[in-house]
Amino acid sequence: MKVTVVGAGAVGATCADNIARRELCTELVLLDIKEGFAEGKAQDMMQTAALLGFDTKITGSTNDYAKTAGSDVVVITSGLPRKPGMTREELIGTNAGIVKGVCENILKHSPNAIIIVISNPMDTMTYLALTATGLPKNRIIGMGGTLDSSRFKYQLSQHLGCSPADLNAVVVGGHGDTTMIPLIRHATWNSAPVTDFLTADQQQQIVNDTMVGGATLTKLIGTSAWYAPGAAGAALVESIVRDQKKLFTCCVSLDGEYGQKDICLGVPVTIGKNGWEKIIDIKLNEEEQAAFNKSADAVRNMNDVLKTL
Ligand code: 2OP
Repeated sequence: MKVTVVGAGAVGATCADNIARRELCTELVLLDIKEGFAEGKAQDMMQTAALLGFDTKITGSTNDYAKTAGSDVVVITSGLPRKPGMTREELIGTNAGIVKGVCENILKHSPNAIIIVISNPMDTMTYLALTATGLPKNRIIGMGGTLDSSRFKYQLSQHLGCSPADLNAVVVGGHGDTTMIPLIRHATWNSAPVTDFLTADQQQQIVNDTMVGGATLTKLIGTSAWYAPGAAGAALVESIVRDQKKLFTCCVSLDGEYGQKDICLGVPVTIGKNGWEKIIDIKLNEEEQAAFNKSADAVRNMNDVLKTL
């Protein structure tokens, strides 16, 4: 197996580090446009191999896509991260051109690759990757909901005093501060509904804190977060390369599912060797469906901006 991570910034490097430590592939290429940057990070990671005991071979590349040839999975993290006070949507002008160029270069050398999009605004970048490449829809996966669902579990665990790993909780819709929908009514602590253990105020607090999870970290750190985004990307890579068919919320092309068409939006999907394989239909109530439709409207407006660039 060969995996490429495009963009050797904090998210890309963390994703690559997670992939290597877990030996998810034999060959891992880290690519960046900044001269020597990916090579340096790749060498630094390789110098942990003897300490951590992994055999994945990591190579760095300054924009030489020939080195990525034959990749089975490609993770795209390229583009600007957000600064404190910025929305993910404000990055569209710069990141659209970058993501389109990356997709074209990748496919020249890895025509069969499954592409995972992390770059922001993630829903629109996923839609762009799908429409610009014309690839079968199952091979384009946006990572956002996987990260947001993990952040949701963290927030729930803080209030319940439990392990995040014991929770089942999903965030659907867009990967934006106002477009994501933490489905607290469906969340369980093992099999027990979490709503049985939380007051209405606590539930609202958890939902609110989840929605601004990324913005809160951007404010604290001074730039966009990387540990959880990188780990979320690697979790998707693992489910693909090991054909685990795990259920994650991912941004995928909808064709009538959840009442939406011609849009990429976060819904629960199984992830396996073919990319995203099956959309799971969670029965939304009227209020949840209305929130999903509103989220779709906002993402569609953002997708329309692509036509003006
Ligand atoms: C975040 O929410 C990187 O969009 C990502 O932290």
